[in-house]
Amino acid sequence: MLHLAMVRYLTGFQPTGILHIGNYFGALRPAIETQDKGEGFFFIADFHALTTIHDPKILREHVRGVAIDTLACGLDPQKACFFRQSDVPIVAELTWILSCVTPMGLLERSHSYKEKLARGISSSHALFAYPTLMAADILLYESDVVPVGRDQKQHLEITRDIAMKFNELYGPVFKLPEPSIRDDVATIVGLDGQKMSKSYGNTIELFSEEKALRKKIMSIVTDSTPVEAPKDPANSTIVSLYRLFATPQQVAAMEEDFRVSGFGYGDFKQRLFEIVWKRFAPMRKRREELLKDPGYIDEILARGAARAREVAEQTISRVRRAVGIGGRIGG
Ligand code: TRP
Repeated sequence: MLHLAMVRYLTGFQPTGILHIGNYFGALRPAIETQDKGEGFFFIADFHALTTIHDPKILREHVRGVAIDTLACGLDPQKACFFRQSDVPIVAELTWILSCVTPMGLLERSHSYKEKLARGISSSHALFAYPTLMAADILLYESDVVPVGRDQKQHLEITRDIAMKFNELYGPVFKLPEPSIRDDVATIVGLDGQKMSKSYGNTIELFSEEKALRKKIMSIVTDSTPVEAPKDPANSTIVSLYRLFATPQQVAAMEEDFRVSGFGYGDFKQRLFEIVWKRFAPMRKRREELLKDPGYIDEILARGAARAREVAEQTISRVRRAVGIGGRIGG
C-alpha cells in the first residue's frame, strides 16, 4: 500500500496579551491554515511566557485568552493537535539536554534577546536560553515545517544549528525542520506606519468593542492634505491595512478615490473600519460562545496534551538512550 507520510506543521503561540491584527495576519492565520495541509501541532507557549510574566494570575488569563482567540480564529481541534506547552513537561528535560550542546556564542548572537534587553526586560538565564526551549519544542515533536512570523527566523536557524550539533555528536536523532515565512504578510503596519507591535503601542486589536475599534482606526496617522486635494495612496497606512481585508477591486477603487479630490482621510478610515468589523464578526461570535463554555477549552487542551505526549515520549526515549541517561545501569 502506498503510504504518504503527513507533513507535520508545528507552531507555538506566546500568550503575551491581546490579539492584534499584526499577530493575526503575520503568525496566527498562516499557522492555522496549515491544519488543512498536513498534521498540525499547535501549542500555547506558557513556559516561554514565564520568561517575562511573573504574575500567576496574569499568566493564566493570557493562556486562557490565547486559547480562546486561537479557537475563535479557526483552529480546528478535530484537525490539529492543540495543547499547552507545560502540560508536556518533557520539553523542559529536552531543553536541558540541548543546553549541554548549545554553544554560548549561538545564543549571544540572538537578536530577540538583545531586543528584549533594549526594551527594559531584565535579563535572566531563561530569557537567554529562550531559543533552546524553542528548539526543544520543535525537535521534540519531530516537526517538518514551522510556520512563523519573520521575527522568529533566527530562532529557527538556531534550532537547526543545535539539531545538527546534537546529531554530529550522537548520531541522527533529530529531524531538521524547515521554517515557513509568508513574505506577503511579513510586515503589517501599525497606526503610526511602523511595524505593528505591542511594544510600539500602535496596534489594532481584533476583538475590541465597536466603538473602541472605530476610535483606533480613526487615530491612524495621516498627513494634513485637505479633502479637496488629491492624495498619494502609495505610502498610505490606510491603504496598506485595507489591502489585508479587501478584494483587489476594492483596493483599486480606494486608490482611485485617493487620487481624485473630494474624499478625506476620514472617509477612507470609515471604509477600513467597516471592512475590519465585518471580517472579524463571525470570529467575534465564536469567541462569545467559547467564553460561555470554559470546560470545553480544558477538554480540548487535555486531549491535545495526550496526543502530544505520545510523540514526546518516543522522542525523549531516543534522546535519553543516545546521550546515556535513564534505563538500567546495573548491566
Ligand atoms: N517564540 C515564538 C513567538 O514568540 C513562540 C514559540 C515558542 C514558537 N516555541 C515555538 C514558535 C516553536 C514556533 C515553534 O512567537
